Amino acid sequence: MTKFISLKTSLPGPKSQEIAKRREKYIAKPMGSSLSPCYIAHGEGALVTDVDGNQFIDLTGGWGCLAVGHTHKKVVAAVKDQAEKYLHTDFTAVPYESLVELAEKLVELAPGDTPKAAAFFNSGAEAVENAVKIARAYTRRPAIIVFENAFHGRTLLTMTMTHKAMPYKYHFGPFAPEIYRLPFPSPSHPMANLENFEKILTNTVTPDSVAAIVVEPIQGEGGFNVPQEGFLEYLRKLTKKYGILLVTDEIQSGIGRTGKFFAIENWDIEPDIICLAKSLAAGLPLSAVIAKKEITDTLPGGCIGGTYVGNPLACRAALEVINIIEEEHLLDRALKIGERLKERFLQMKDKYPIVGDVHGIGAMMAIELVKDQKTKEPAPQETARIVQECIKNGVFVPTAGINKNLLRMLVSLEITDEQLDEALNVLERAIAKI
Ligand SMILES: Cc1ncc(COP(=O)(O)O)c(C=O)c1O
Repeated sequence: MTKFISLKTSLPGPKSQEIAKRREKYIAKPMGSSLSPCYIAHGEGALVTDVDGNQFIDLTGGWGCLAVGHTHKKVVAAVKDQAEKYLHTDFTAVPYESLVELAEKLVELAPGDTPKAAAFFNSGAEAVENAVKIARAYTRRPAIIVFENAFHGRTLLTMTMTHKAMPYKYHFGPFAPEIYRLPFPSPSHPMANLENFEKILTNTVTPDSVAAIVVEPIQGEGGFNVPQEGFLEYLRKLTKKYGILLVTDEIQSGIGRTGKFFAIENWDIEPDIICLAKSLAAGLPLSAVIAKKEITDTLPGGCIGGTYVGNPLACRAALEVINIIEEEHLLDRALKIGERLKERFLQMKDKYPIVGDVHGIGAMMAIELVKDQKTKEPAPQETARIVQECIKNGVFVPTAGINKNLLRMLVSLEITDEQLDEALNVLERAIAKI
């Protein structure tokens, strides 16, 4: 018996099937197939009800955008209130206080004592693009270092920075120049001596032509890879040595998911630039670049921006997100969720040979599915079948990894223990079955 999952029709139900037919006809194929074959009618916290009245537990959180869950009452109230006042002005035409207040809050929360300033955009990719523009203009250098398994977006520059070729780079070249990819040392792919990283870097590109190293403190799409101990601290020292800026892409790992508001706070490091998006505005399009003010102050007015950037609805939502994280102690909750996930996943690893590894920080926890626990050969087909089995039983689980053989938890931090246990029971049965 399930308490939260309630499946009333076969899946997808008749109404979802009808919408899917129209989708087939009218939606461009590269828009991708969805994880869920069922179309949402309503979401609340970590629960989703579809158009046929089936209720699911959602571990995707809109690909990590819903730290505060679907339709948090405070976010909805703020957005409604804002919608009745004004929808758009463009901050550079007629400014509004909520954007200033949001910048103030983010700068206050950002790690380190150096004065900082924020700029706002619409998507994660735009934030990364602008971080690179700012870094290049400030340093007057062209090159950017990124990492193996990185994901930074789908625009020309950010798809170049993203590692995985299929589908993200599918005949979309020529790619942006001056992007150099280096290894990302992690516990599963350690570098015997971190000092070797400097040699790899200097053999790849002359360091005084490098504007920035852009790093996800914990890789998202790449499979929730945690950096090797000491690596980020080492990067900070190395970047200072060569006058390179350190940019953290916290688009997936930020906003509380790791138990800290900024993922980089898990280390004692002050980056030069931080990129945020996804959960920042509870699903409304908003991204932020928070940079040292000594950097942003050197750029001329108007050189970055965009018509819709920092739109008033999203700014109001983001202010609520920050309040909710504080008021509801969601950073502690992320750690508790993480402990619960880790405990269950490690039990599964003992029981099922297909579970090869468990890793992550806080609620950003993933399990790696392998054909053999020793060789760690990836098991992508089995992973896909587990996902389908979970959907059939009322749980949406996202995959990750360059080989698509990880299940990553991007669950709302509003999920209750009971809901989480129910979802994990479904997941465990699916793993056992496959
Ligand atoms: C770490 C990281 N950077 C950048 C992006 C791109 O964000 P967007 O899809 O909003 O452009 C993503 C999206 O998944 C991401 O996870």
